[in-house]
Amino acid sequence: MFFQSKKLIGLDIGTANIKMAEVDFSRKGSTLVNFAIMPTPPRAINGGEIADPSAISEALKQMVAGLKTKRKAIAVGLWGTSVISKRITIPMMDEKLVGGQIRWEAEQYIPFDINEVNIDFKILKSFQSSPETLDILLVAARQDIAFLYQDIVQSSGMNCSVIDVSGFSLANCFLNNWGSQKGQTVALMNIGAAITNFVVVENGEVIFCRDIPVGGLTYTSEISKAMGISIEEAEAMKISACTGQAAPEEVAKILQTTHELISEEVQSSLDFFVNTTPGLPVQQCLVTGGASRTTGLINHLAQSTKMGFQIFDPFRNIKLNERQLTADYVSEIRDFAAVAMGLGMRAQGDA
Ligand SMILES: Nc1ncnc2c1ncn2[C@@H]1O[C@H](COP(=O)(O)OP(=O)(O)OP(=O)(O)O)[C@@H](O)[C@H]1O
Ligand SMILES: [Mg+2]
Repeated sequence: MFFQSKKLIGLDIGTANIKMAEVDFSRKGSTLVNFAIMPTPPRAINGGEIADPSAISEALKQMVAGLKTKRKAIAVGLWGTSVISKRITIPMMDEKLVGGQIRWEAEQYIPFDINEVNIDFKILKSFQSSPETLDILLVAARQDIAFLYQDIVQSSGMNCSVIDVSGFSLANCFLNNWGSQKGQTVALMNIGAAITNFVVVENGEVIFCRDIPVGGLTYTSEISKAMGISIEEAEAMKISACTGQAAPEEVAKILQTTHELISEEVQSSLDFFVNTTPGLPVQQCLVTGGASRTTGLINHLAQSTKMGFQIFDPFRNIKLNERQLTADYVSEIRDFAAVAMGLGMRAQGDA
């Protein structure tokens, strides 16, 4: 059908929170029908690894029941060390032949066994460094992890229709809200609990994507270490300090020193990007994710990287179903929703 809306649910399984976005998606304009968020079961994801698949399936079941949706198809995002993406340059060839060649080319660039990964690639249309070569963004995802996600989704009674990379979903959310922004280079940062998805989009194309291993948990574990308290206590103290409630003075000091740590990591990814990718300078950075709420972080990043930072609104150009979603709820989920939204706006059958 011509303007068929794709009936998917976008699913983002994070270390701290699981999010589901039910979007009526069409290229002419999308509507957020409903959204669910639930804390990830304790220790179900540990150090970026899924430690308790059945606890996650159980949580998904509850979330789907809460959405009261008829949809069965899920689009889920992979992140962290199970995926890697890299810009590579290969000899010029007919674009149709790249698919057949890419495995051979990929082997030398990826740190996983080539027989145990799913490979995808994008020819960088607006970014070609020489007429004799083709510049490609290579994406490799560990097959065992993709299967594990599929199993988790299936055990919850749903079907896994699309498996994507979270960073690319973040970019998809951006593109559906801002359009392709010709002539612009924009950095996107989704600062979660364990990782920060860092993506650069140029002329509407992802040219760089990596997950930086810092986020809200970096703060929590620094507080826990410095004050000799449990992670749970440290997390509660951090949230109190960041939401204007009473908290020991020491917490504010630890937040401050941890900003340095986070900024250094972000800066080193930015430097890597700038040194390996000739092109336009990054004009602005849009930031989202639960940990972007950490008091003082965005200011610190803006000062240390000398870039303009703005809050990434994943609903900028999205209609909201007001029968389900109150204004308060929408503002509560805004900082958590970008990846799930990008997944919910995937066409079915996308790789
Ligand atoms: N008001 C707040 N102030 C500071 N930090 C906050 C606030 N609210 C949430 N956070 C932090 O945001 C993080 C959760 O954000 P998010 O849901 O985006 O992460 P996630 O997607 O589950 O994690 P990841 O993608 O890294 O696996 C937690 O570390 C939490 O402490
Ligand atoms: Mg996340």
